[in-house]
Amino acid sequence: MLRVALFGCGRIGRVHAEAVAGHPRAELAWVFDPVETAAKEVGSQYGAAASTDADAVLADGSVDAVIVASPTPTHVDLLTRAARAGKAVLCEKPIDLAIARVDACWGEIGASDPLVMVGFNRRFDPSFREIRARVTAGEIGRLEQVVIISRDPAPPPAGYVATSGGLFRDMTIHDFDMARFLLGAQGAGDVVEVSAMGSNLVSPEIEEVGDIDGAVVTLRSADGALAQITNSRRCAYGYDQRLEAFGSTGMLIAQNQLPTSVRYAGAERSESAAPVLNFFLERYGPAYRAELDHFVSAVEKGARPSPDFADGRAALVLADAAAESLRTGRTVRLGG
Ligand SMILES: NC(=O)c1ccc[n+]([C@@H]2O[C@H](COP(=O)([O-])OP(=O)(O)OC[C@H]3O[C@@H](n4cnc5c(N)ncnc54)[C@H](O)[C@@H]3O)[C@@H](O)[C@H]2O)c1
Repeated sequence: MLRVALFGCGRIGRVHAEAVAGHPRAELAWVFDPVETAAKEVGSQYGAAASTDADAVLADGSVDAVIVASPTPTHVDLLTRAARAGKAVLCEKPIDLAIARVDACWGEIGASDPLVMVGFNRRFDPSFREIRARVTAGEIGRLEQVVIISRDPAPPPAGYVATSGGLFRDMTIHDFDMARFLLGAQGAGDVVEVSAMGSNLVSPEIEEVGDIDGAVVTLRSADGALAQITNSRRCAYGYDQRLEAFGSTGMLIAQNQLPTSVRYAGAERSESAAPVLNFFLERYGPAYRAELDHFVSAVEKGARPSPDFADGRAALVLADAAAESLRTGRTVRLGG
């Protein structure tokens, strides 16, 4: 059994706790949170020891792996300490908001080639994963265009937005990774151009803290394929998560998911269904479990996980490029 310690017992930490507890080859040994009540609540729910002392958890030699699910500014410190203690790490996205800190982190730990996976859970969504596999298999010929639509049901609290690093580093980061995941499906090389536009049409509070609440970002890969990402912090019909891959001989598309397949037809409307799944906890439940399974298998085999630390860094490079494009109104070229 892989013995796992969880750092951070908030929204996403609880998702990971449930996934570890439900995994046949993993057990939740420790949960850590500076808020004792949070640690105790999750610990007692899953039969794990609860602690507010990170050093004590990391000093436990029987712990094989650590999940970092704490607020973003704490990731680098915890990741560094866990890797130094010889633990495999699954770190939530983004690794950090500043590329200099990401690079300094790898400078500290890279020499020992630690096993580090980054929590881009959407790579493990069964539909998105199938699209990638079928693009790789050549089912739509040469990949030419990718369309990613990602809209949240409602804006996060203003306090969260103020320290989030902005829409590109906090939210679009998932879509940057998804764009790289798909554009790389045929070995097309990484993204070489980024162009972004943003809008403030949703929340005055977001505008007040200098962030945007909607964006369209265009990416070009080294072999010329294009990806377009559309984001909004508000979506009246729920959590809008769609994906399209368009190639020389066809197209693959993943639509929004509904709780059931039931449709209504009547005199006033037809093909009417229940609203789309509301947010990430519902929409990506299977993906979080598959992500954990990939991590457990990688640790067992000593194999490199995907997405790894370099993928986490690459998505942040794209977020920085999008922010620069938004600021300057110009397309940003990457990769020398
Ligand atoms: N992959 C995804 O789908 C996804 C979804 C949500 C959040 N996230 C990421 O997960 C991270 C946490 O987000 P959240 O929404 O769960 O936040 P949250 O505020 O709900 O939970 C954070 C928890 O971490 C605890 N904490 C604070 N400082 C800590 C420290 N130094 N060490 C350990 N724990 C500490 C807090 O007390 C809290 O319980 C963020 O980096 C966020 O970007 C990822």
